[in-house]
Amino acid sequence: MSTRLRTHLACLATCALVLPLGWMWWSSLMPDEYSVMDMGYVDLGGGPELAAVSGHGSEHGPRHGPRHGGGHGSAAGMTTDIASLVAGDRPADVEVDLVAREEPFTLASGRDVTGYTLNGSSPGPVIRATEGDMVEVRLRNDNIDAGITLHWHGLDVPNAMDGVAGVTQDAVGAGEEFTYRFVAEQVGTYWYHSHQLSHEQVKRGLLGAVVISPGLDPAEDPGTGATVDVEALLHLYDGQRTLNGHQGDVPVEAEPGTTARVRVINTDNGPFTTWVSGADYRVVAVDGTDLNEPGAVSGEALVVTAGGRADLEIVVPPNGARVELGGNAIVLGPRGASPTRETAPRDFVDLLGYGSPADLGFDPTDADRSFDYVIGRRPGFHDGRPGMWWTVNGRMFPDVPMYTVTTGDVVRMRLVNDSGEVHPMHLHGHHALVLSRDGVPATGSPWWVDSLNVRDGETYEIAFVADNPGVWMDHCHNLPHAAEGLIAHLMYAGYSTPYVIGGHAHNEPE
Ligand code: C2O
Ligand code: CU
Repeated sequence: MSTRLRTHLACLATCALVLPLGWMWWSSLMPDEYSVMDMGYVDLGGGPELAAVSGHGSEHGPRHGPRHGGGHGSAAGMTTDIASLVAGDRPADVEVDLVAREEPFTLASGRDVTGYTLNGSSPGPVIRATEGDMVEVRLRNDNIDAGITLHWHGLDVPNAMDGVAGVTQDAVGAGEEFTYRFVAEQVGTYWYHSHQLSHEQVKRGLLGAVVISPGLDPAEDPGTGATVDVEALLHLYDGQRTLNGHQGDVPVEAEPGTTARVRVINTDNGPFTTWVSGADYRVVAVDGTDLNEPGAVSGEALVVTAGGRADLEIVVPPNGARVELGGNAIVLGPRGASPTRETAPRDFVDLLGYGSPADLGFDPTDADRSFDYVIGRRPGFHDGRPGMWWTVNGRMFPDVPMYTVTTGDVVRMRLVNDSGEVHPMHLHGHHALVLSRDGVPATGSPWWVDSLNVRDGETYEIAFVADNPGVWMDHCHNLPHAAEGLIAHLMYAGYSTPYVIGGHAHNEPE
């Protein structure tokens, strides 16, 4: 072989390696500004074609250069701007002013942290409302240059109130304000957090609890006498586990015989294990929804999904009881009670068979669309960075499915985790019913979730009714995973968002 030929062959071989890599790198670069509606490919879930699916037609990666949703006023028909999806203008029953700041602050535990506060503290104030109230939250960003938003995690608010930067609004810049309004239709335990640079802003404290109580007057409640109702918001600040900002035991005075409701809120990135020392407990609600006929649990712990909530009910025994929360605890009992800490049970409550069945309100066997959300992992480029990245249905961000539905559809989704790590999957704007895990059908209380812990190797089937139009995120709530591309969207045909990722407001939801 001549030297020349050899050189040629070597060049070709190099090119054969480098060019595809270069192409992969180049095509992974995200433009400075893009609409999530242009991401990935339309997935109709085996249902009928839909008109006015904006911007889509074929499968593709990111677009280079600015563009706008191609569906606006196209031949497919006009679309409704999601900015019009608001709660109406009746006067507010609950008004909350929140001022967000980046500043050093002292946790209730006495520890100093530099992060983000709402009205001077983190967690921010608990927002309380009664079922049916119009809630109005005026958010002011004092000095957070990257911009902020508030997302109402688990509250199925109108789309324009969902608080996702670049999807449902622009990030609120320093010195700017934004007003959120929604009707408190769902009784239960929820939370709020920033959805601008959420992997960083949530970790550093831009969050708080929301509790919505039933509309009955307790004086008229024929029920059970004295009750204690307390939030237990869990958050990791600088690697330090806290409970409502405290560390250690948080005493809550309660006479023996009192029924206590402890609202556990997991605001961290991983699953949390809780149990009760000194008493039985019942899991009376998950992700804000009451369970039907929850049985007494003893000798079992409960896993609370990242982003998820669980309300535990305890009848306070004479010596008190401890709700164990990662080294911290809510101590229920008469003044001075010090119940003994029990070690973590080995067994776990399985919500798949807990409580008893009840009416579902819809027929999940008669689905209009069935989607797959299969999570994997492989090497590649994410916005130009090489690494092992998450995949959805075998493809990497931004080439992820746009789950497309129309109002009224009954939707099934199969969540498969084949990625080596647990993923707490969170769908915005909807609650989904768990149908099965690894082929085993749910037999207990209807188990409605907004955050579902999908462990490596597991398959869940869930179903929901598409009854809240708009463009919704459907992502992993281990927020660094979301920032690494483990996101997809649920889109209603005929709707479009005017907001863009990037752009003048520097929207960056993850
Ligand atoms: Cu709790 Cu998309 O978020
Ligand atoms: Cu994840």
